[in-house]
Amino acid sequence: MKIEYDNDEFFQQYARMARSREGLSGAGEWHQLKKLFPDVRGKRILDLGCGYGWHCMYAADQGAEQILGIDISARMIEEAVKRNKSEKITYRVCGLEEYEYPEKAWDCVVSNLALHYIEDLASVYRKVYRTLRPGGTFLFNIEHPVFTAGVGQDWIRDEEGKALYWPVDDYFYPGERKTHFLGCEVMKQHHTLTQILNGLLLCGFALEAVEEAHPSEEMLALPEMKDEMRRPMMLLVKARKPEDFSRSAGDTVSGERCCKEDQKGK
Ligand SMILES: C[S@@+](CC[C@H](N)C(=O)[O-])C[C@H]1O[C@@H](n2cnc3c(N)ncnc32)[C@H](O)[C@@H]1O
Repeated sequence: MKIEYDNDEFFQQYARMARSREGLSGAGEWHQLKKLFPDVRGKRILDLGCGYGWHCMYAADQGAEQILGIDISARMIEEAVKRNKSEKITYRVCGLEEYEYPEKAWDCVVSNLALHYIEDLASVYRKVYRTLRPGGTFLFNIEHPVFTAGVGQDWIRDEEGKALYWPVDDYFYPGERKTHFLGCEVMKQHHTLTQILNGLLLCGFALEAVEEAHPSEEMLALPEMKDEMRRPMMLLVKARKPEDFSRSAGDTVSGERCCKEDQKGK
């Protein structure tokens, strides 16, 4: 599969972003995502679309026992090995769609800004549910549907380039969106809010937190951040695989069924 992150020009541009230069402290969503992180001491963590491996390293620093970071881009994995190496972490070049998701193998699955590259989100949800141990956490950050349904993912601007408003169109048509990101044409996938949140419930997950990322007060002091208060860009979600299927009837029963159906289809 062709991935923009392996493209030389895009890779260089990505390396210039604050999140690439500074790590988690340079990531606008981190002040919120960090608070949602479960206690990972002695736990097994899977990072889907790990990029440079910042979240893998954070988990290692917090005392996680074993961490696997997967990413479809060989160049991103190369960078992760260089920048965020630890004896607790294994990195692997592998697409989210191809990973085997062994049953009840992980305590926590994390995914930061990778799921909006996935066409069949429901299928990944089912596999994550299967690979989590009962009581396990699925924590992710996905581009917000208001952002992915943005026309060309850009503002409508006046002659001077001032952002007038954020256009949203074709919201109820999920699927491929051609965007301009870091000076390159990048394909992303739009999912509606219902697909993102209800998709988890249909799988059997319990929702624990939903937050829309906004700049921290510190970041808001930067003039270029003001427009980030005008529309949401990222959606942070924390979900849990219930401990005991028999205790909470409705959702979890359908979740179990959903995952069994997924296995049958293999
Ligand atoms: C915006 S970066 C985020 C990287 C990292 N999670 C972080 O927050 O620093 C998105 C990452 O998702 C990866 N990615 C995109 N599509 C993927 C797929 N189908 N399977 C695995 N990784 C994918 C890209 O290669 C890239 O490293």
